[in-house]
Amino acid sequence: MAKSKTLPRLASAFFVILTIMVLLSPQARAKQNRFSRILSPASLGLRKEKLSHLHFYFHDIVSGPKPTAVKVAEALMTNTSHTGFGVVVMADDPLTAGPSRTSKLLGKAQGIYASAAQDELGLLMVMNYVFTEGKYNGSTLSLLGQNKAFNAVREMPIVGGSGLFRFARGYAQAKTHSLDYKTGNAVVEYNVYVFHY
Ligand SMILES: *[C@@H]1O[C@H](CO)[C@@H](O)[C@H](O)[C@H]1NC(C)=O
Ligand SMILES: *[C@@H]1O[C@H](CO)[C@@H](O)[C@H](O)[C@H]1NC(C)=O
Repeated sequence: MAKSKTLPRLASAFFVILTIMVLLSPQARAKQNRFSRILSPASLGLRKEKLSHLHFYFHDIVSGPKPTAVKVAEALMTNTSHTGFGVVVMADDPLTAGPSRTSKLLGKAQGIYASAAQDELGLLMVMNYVFTEGKYNGSTLSLLGQNKAFNAVREMPIVGGSGLFRFARGYAQAKTHSLDYKTGNAVVEYNVYVFHY
Protein backbone atom coordinates (compact mmCIF):
# COMPACT_ATOMS: atom_id res chain seq x y z
CA MET A 1 0.00 0.00 0.00
CA ALA A 2 2.70 2.48 1.11
CA LYS A 3 4.86 1.49 -1.86
CA SER A 4 2.19 2.30 -4.43
CA LYS A 5 1.84 5.86 -3.00
CA THR A 6 5.59 6.51 -2.80
CA LEU A 7 6.32 5.63 -6.38
CA PRO A 8 4.12 8.26 -8.05
CA ARG A 9 5.45 10.83 -5.55
CA LEU A 10 9.01 9.93 -6.44
CA ALA A 11 8.15 10.11 -10.10
CA SER A 12 6.56 13.56 -9.81
CA ALA A 13 9.47 14.83 -7.67
CA PHE A 14 11.85 13.54 -10.30
CA PHE A 15 9.85 15.28 -13.01
CA VAL A 16 9.92 18.59 -11.11
CA ILE A 17 13.68 18.34 -10.62
CA LEU A 18 14.18 17.48 -14.28
CA THR A 19 12.10 20.49 -15.35
CA ILE A 20 14.11 22.81 -13.08
CA MET A 21 17.36 21.41 -14.46
CA VAL A 22 16.21 21.95 -18.04
CA LEU A 23 15.09 25.53 -17.26
CA LEU A 24 18.42 26.32 -15.59
CA SER A 25 20.50 24.76 -18.36
CA PRO A 26 22.77 27.14 -20.27
CA GLN A 27 20.82 26.49 -23.48
CA ALA A 28 17.51 27.43 -21.85
CA ARG A 29 18.98 30.58 -20.34
CA ALA A 30 20.43 31.55 -23.69
CA LYS A 31 16.97 31.12 -25.21
CA GLN A 32 15.34 33.35 -22.58
CA ASN A 33 17.96 36.07 -22.91
CA ARG A 34 18.24 36.17 -26.67
CA PHE A 35 17.11 39.43 -28.23
CA SER A 36 16.95 38.21 -31.80
CA ARG A 37 15.66 35.18 -33.59
CA ILE A 38 15.13 34.12 -37.15
CA LEU A 39 11.54 34.09 -38.40
CA SER A 40 9.98 32.82 -41.56
CA PRO A 41 8.45 35.70 -43.59
CA ALA A 42 5.15 33.76 -43.53
CA SER A 43 4.99 34.13 -39.74
CA LEU A 44 4.51 37.89 -40.29
CA GLY A 45 1.98 37.24 -43.04
CA LEU A 46 4.46 38.30 -45.74
CA ARG A 47 3.72 36.58 -48.99
CA LYS A 48 4.89 37.70 -52.39
CA GLU A 49 6.80 40.96 -52.75
CA LYS A 50 5.15 43.32 -55.22
CA LEU A 51 6.10 46.45 -57.09
CA SER A 52 3.70 49.41 -56.89
CA HIS A 53 3.64 52.63 -58.84
CA LEU A 54 2.11 55.66 -57.13
CA HIS A 55 1.36 58.89 -58.88
CA PHE A 56 0.37 62.11 -57.14
CA TYR A 57 1.00 65.84 -56.90
CA PHE A 58 2.82 67.56 -54.04
CA HIS A 59 1.79 71.10 -53.14
CA ASP A 60 4.50 73.20 -51.50
CA ILE A 61 2.64 76.28 -50.30
CA VAL A 62 5.15 78.71 -48.80
CA SER A 63 3.12 81.92 -48.78
CA GLY A 64 -0.42 83.21 -48.42
CA PRO A 65 -2.69 82.99 -45.40
CA LYS A 66 -2.17 79.26 -44.79
CA PRO A 67 1.31 78.13 -45.84
CA THR A 68 1.98 74.38 -45.61
CA ALA A 69 5.77 74.80 -45.58
CA VAL A 70 7.42 77.21 -43.13
CA LYS A 71 11.01 78.23 -42.57
CA VAL A 72 12.03 77.18 -39.06
CA ALA A 73 15.76 77.95 -39.07
CA GLU A 74 18.56 79.49 -41.07
CA ALA A 75 22.26 80.18 -40.67
CA LEU A 76 23.64 83.66 -39.98
CA MET A 77 25.31 83.55 -43.39
CA THR A 78 22.20 82.27 -45.23
CA ASN A 79 21.50 85.79 -46.52
CA THR A 80 24.86 85.81 -48.31
CA SER A 81 24.38 82.39 -49.93
CA HIS A 82 22.79 82.26 -53.37
CA THR A 83 21.50 78.76 -52.55
CA GLY A 84 20.05 79.77 -49.17
CA PHE A 85 22.48 77.35 -47.59
CA GLY A 86 21.36 76.42 -44.07
CA VAL A 87 17.66 77.15 -44.42
CA VAL A 88 15.46 74.51 -42.81
CA VAL A 89 11.79 74.24 -43.75
CA MET A 90 9.14 72.15 -42.02
CA ALA A 91 6.41 70.96 -44.35
CA ASP A 92 2.98 69.41 -44.09
CA ASP A 93 2.34 69.54 -47.82
CA PRO A 94 -0.86 68.17 -49.36
CA LEU A 95 -0.60 65.26 -51.79
CA THR A 96 -3.40 65.20 -54.34
CA ALA A 97 -4.52 62.97 -57.20
CA GLY A 98 -4.41 65.78 -59.77
CA PRO A 99 -2.34 68.95 -60.17
CA SER A 100 -5.10 71.18 -58.81
CA ARG A 101 -5.01 71.97 -55.10
CA THR A 102 -8.72 71.12 -54.94
CA SER A 103 -8.36 67.67 -56.49
CA LYS A 104 -8.76 64.60 -54.28
CA LEU A 105 -6.51 64.67 -51.21
CA LEU A 106 -4.47 61.46 -50.92
CA GLY A 107 -2.28 62.36 -47.95
CA LYS A 108 0.43 64.70 -46.73
CA ALA A 109 4.17 64.96 -47.13
CA GLN A 110 5.33 65.64 -43.59
CA GLY A 111 8.91 66.44 -42.78
CA ILE A 112 11.86 68.65 -43.38
CA TYR A 113 13.62 69.98 -46.40
CA ALA A 114 16.77 71.97 -45.98
CA SER A 115 19.29 73.70 -48.22
CA ALA A 116 22.32 71.44 -47.93
CA ALA A 117 24.44 72.54 -50.91
CA GLN A 118 26.47 75.73 -51.34
CA ASP A 119 27.24 75.72 -55.06
CA GLU A 120 23.85 74.71 -56.48
CA LEU A 121 20.34 74.31 -55.14
CA GLY A 122 20.44 70.91 -53.46
CA LEU A 123 17.83 70.17 -50.84
CA LEU A 124 18.10 67.49 -48.21
CA MET A 125 14.65 65.86 -48.09
CA VAL A 126 13.65 63.95 -44.97
CA MET A 127 9.95 63.24 -45.36
CA ASN A 128 7.17 60.86 -44.50
CA TYR A 129 4.47 60.53 -47.13
CA VAL A 130 1.43 59.87 -44.97
CA PHE A 131 -1.47 58.47 -46.97
CA THR A 132 -5.06 58.97 -45.85
CA GLU A 133 -7.07 57.66 -48.78
CA GLY A 134 -8.34 54.26 -49.85
CA LYS A 135 -6.48 51.10 -48.95
CA TYR A 136 -3.30 53.05 -48.16
CA ASN A 137 -5.06 55.12 -45.47
CA GLY A 138 -2.74 54.98 -42.44
CA SER A 139 0.27 53.69 -44.39
CA THR A 140 3.40 55.76 -44.85
CA LEU A 141 6.48 55.89 -47.06
CA SER A 142 9.74 57.42 -45.87
CA LEU A 143 11.84 59.38 -48.32
CA LEU A 144 15.42 60.48 -47.72
CA GLY A 145 17.43 62.03 -50.50
CA GLN A 146 18.85 64.94 -52.38
CA ASN A 147 16.50 67.17 -54.34
CA LYS A 148 18.10 69.45 -56.92
CA ALA A 149 14.84 71.32 -57.21
CA PHE A 150 15.75 73.13 -60.45
CA ASN A 151 16.51 69.91 -62.34
CA ALA A 152 13.80 68.59 -64.63
CA VAL A 153 13.55 65.24 -62.83
CA ARG A 154 14.95 64.48 -59.38
CA GLU A 155 15.30 60.98 -58.06
CA MET A 156 15.16 60.27 -54.35
CA PRO A 157 15.31 56.98 -52.46
CA ILE A 158 12.35 55.54 -50.59
CA VAL A 159 14.03 54.01 -47.58
CA GLY A 160 11.12 52.38 -45.78
CA GLY A 161 7.47 52.44 -44.91
CA SER A 162 4.75 51.36 -42.54
CA GLY A 163 1.37 49.67 -42.77
CA LEU A 164 0.87 48.28 -46.27
CA PHE A 165 4.32 49.67 -47.09
CA ARG A 166 6.23 47.67 -44.47
CA PHE A 167 9.65 46.73 -45.79
CA ALA A 168 9.22 49.27 -48.62
CA ARG A 169 12.18 50.26 -50.69
CA GLY A 170 12.32 52.05 -54.00
CA TYR A 171 12.61 55.48 -55.49
CA ALA A 172 10.60 58.61 -56.17
CA GLN A 173 10.89 60.76 -59.26
CA ALA A 174 9.86 64.37 -58.76
CA LYS A 175 9.12 66.75 -61.58
CA THR A 176 8.08 70.38 -61.09
CA HIS A 177 4.62 70.80 -62.55
CA SER A 178 4.34 74.52 -61.86
CA LEU A 179 6.26 77.14 -59.92
CA ASP A 180 4.93 80.58 -59.11
CA TYR A 181 8.01 82.80 -58.94
CA LYS A 182 6.01 85.55 -57.22
CA THR A 183 4.75 83.49 -54.28
CA GLY A 184 7.30 80.66 -54.31
CA ASN A 185 4.47 78.11 -54.29
CA ALA A 186 5.17 74.98 -56.29
CA VAL A 187 3.31 71.91 -57.50
CA VAL A 188 5.50 68.87 -58.01
CA GLU A 189 4.48 65.71 -59.82
CA TYR A 190 5.63 62.50 -58.13
CA ASN A 191 6.05 59.04 -59.57
CA VAL A 192 6.99 56.57 -56.86
CA TYR A 193 8.08 52.99 -57.49
CA VAL A 194 8.26 50.75 -54.44
CA PHE A 195 8.72 47.12 -53.63
CA HIS A 196 6.63 46.05 -50.65
CA TYR A 197 4.50 43.12 -49.52
C1 LIG B 1 23.14 88.96 -43.04
O1 LIG B 1 22.59 88.81 -41.76
C2 LIG B 1 23.48 89.20 -40.72
C3 LIG B 1 22.85 88.81 -39.40
O2 LIG B 1 21.51 89.20 -39.34
C4 LIG B 1 23.77 90.70 -40.87
O3 LIG B 1 24.66 91.12 -39.85
C5 LIG B 1 24.40 90.96 -42.23
O4 LIG B 1 24.58 92.33 -42.45
C6 LIG B 1 23.50 90.38 -43.34
N1 LIG B 1 24.21 90.46 -44.62
C7 LIG B 1 23.64 90.87 -45.74
C8 LIG B 1 24.47 90.84 -46.96
O5 LIG B 1 22.46 91.22 -45.77
C1 LIG C 1 -8.68 56.95 -42.72
O1 LIG C 1 -8.55 56.30 -41.46
C2 LIG C 1 -8.96 57.11 -40.36
C3 LIG C 1 -8.59 56.38 -39.09
O2 LIG C 1 -8.94 55.03 -39.16
C4 LIG C 1 -10.43 57.42 -40.49
O3 LIG C 1 -10.85 58.23 -39.42
C5 LIG C 1 -10.67 58.14 -41.80
O4 LIG C 1 -12.05 58.37 -41.99
C6 LIG C 1 -10.11 57.34 -42.96
N1 LIG C 1 -10.18 58.15 -44.17
C7 LIG C 1 -10.70 57.71 -45.31
C8 LIG C 1 -10.72 58.67 -46.43
O5 LIG C 1 -11.13 56.59 -45.44
